[in-house]
Amino acid sequence: MLTPQQEQLVAATAPVVAEHLDAITQRFYPVLFERYPQVKALFNAAHQTSGGQPRALAAAVLRYVQLRGDREQAKAALALVVDKHVSLNIRPDHYPLVGECLMAAIGEVLGEAVTAEIAGAWQAVYEELAGLLIELEAARYEQFAALPGGWRGARGFHVAATRQESAEIRSFVLAPDDGQPVADFAPGQFIGVKLLIDGEPVFRHYSLSAAPNGRTYRLSIKREPGGRVSEYFHARMSEGARLELLPPAGELTLAEGASPVVLLSAGVGQTPMLSLAAQALAAGRSVTYVHAARSADVHAFGDEVAALAERYPQRLRSVVCYEQADGDAAPDHLGRIDRELLARLLPEDEPLCYLVGPQGFMHCVDTQLEALGVPAERRRFEHFGPSRPLHA
Ligand SMILES: Cc1cc2nc3c(=O)[nH]c(=O)nc-3n(C[C@H](O)[C@H](O)[C@H](O)COP(=O)(O)OP(=O)(O)OC[C@H]3O[C@@H](n4cnc5c(N)ncnc54)[C@H](O)[C@@H]3O)c2cc1C
Ligand code: HEM
Repeated sequence: MLTPQQEQLVAATAPVVAEHLDAITQRFYPVLFERYPQVKALFNAAHQTSGGQPRALAAAVLRYVQLRGDREQAKAALALVVDKHVSLNIRPDHYPLVGECLMAAIGEVLGEAVTAEIAGAWQAVYEELAGLLIELEAARYEQFAALPGGWRGARGFHVAATRQESAEIRSFVLAPDDGQPVADFAPGQFIGVKLLIDGEPVFRHYSLSAAPNGRTYRLSIKREPGGRVSEYFHARMSEGARLELLPPAGELTLAEGASPVVLLSAGVGQTPMLSLAAQALAAGRSVTYVHAARSADVHAFGDEVAALAERYPQRLRSVVCYEQADGDAAPDHLGRIDRELLARLLPEDEPLCYLVGPQGFMHCVDTQLEALGVPAERRRFEHFGPSRPLHA
């Protein structure tokens, strides 16, 4: 709890901290990795190089400072942070390390302007925020461990089957080493993966690409040229290969109700859509499934979506878009998803739209949906990396 004097100090210095927060978080990660190399493996190095993770941290801290007067709003704003943490098994004992390095980075960037009182006030804000995250994460760990087939921390799995879905994407069906059931997740969620590569632990998030079945989970991974984990999966993770999974999490889940669902994906962004479509159709809702691929050879899951369409001919409309013509392959739409196509496809009664793909794709489709009258609360999206605004 902040003292009244600390409240005043935080309010008075918040604009200066906000102005320098990008520099502070950029400095924070090198300090953290130097002082505590044991936590470095948890972070994706590419998200550091791109600056995406430092920016996401800065945005979250600022948002918390704005919202901390309203605990419920603050909790809602932290939902995705909690998801990312839970699926990496971030623990309470990690927080003091991060707090120490964040304060050190504030001191380095703002220099002598940071008096002992100002430092104390910001330390108190950090502790309040850390306390809230620890509480929310503890509840999620408990909840997941209590589910039939749930667990705590990392659980050993192995590759039970693989399937090449397109020139770039391969699916990996993962079964638990203990042969026991695995907990259901909410369709649309992702899971934390821990691999040992050359003896070093490496962590990544992957969407669960098949509906829950109680026995296995499926990941579908695009080979990224130069990508550490995806290349390893494609080159080395054949049947029997071992890995560990951390709890599933994520906010891109199906909102309750009967409204028609529109799923719009590009490339590997299709992975969460498959289980969302199955869930919505099983619940009696109508689904418009729009998928954009560069060309036929990189178009994955065409057969799976066709099988769903056969099962639900009245309620599933599938539209495949190729950016480029490709031999005899005949997409439903040639070229990018544009406003005219969306206007034709959007159901009339309050569609609920989900978007996953590269930033450019989501920015463009989201802009068009907005122009077509779909309100923000009916447009949901997820980044396959640190989250950021769609319209900066
Ligand atoms: C919620 C969520 C869900 C996801 N779901 C999926 C999914 O279903 N399927 C899927 O395939 N992916 C998914 N991802 C992405 C996945 O987590 C990985 O980011 C992706 O597989 C790339 O990881 P990598 O280790 O192969 O590549 P990385 O090693 O992380 O590299 C990524 C890219 O950056 C480049 N790079 C790496 N290091 C540097 C550097 N130092 N300087 C410059 N460039 C560099 C690499 O060449 C590569 O092109 C998801 C991510 C999130 C957050
Ligand atoms: C108050 C403290 C913290 C805040 C505000 C915070 C905030 C965030 C945010 C905003 C993200 C990105 C979420 C997104 O993608 O949208 C994130 C991801 C992450 N956080 Fe934290 N975090 C805190 C503490 C910690 C601690 C203690 C650890 C453990 C060392 C940790 C490890 C991670 C990791 C590994 C990721 C994923 C990074 C990646 O994708 O490379 N965080 N956190």
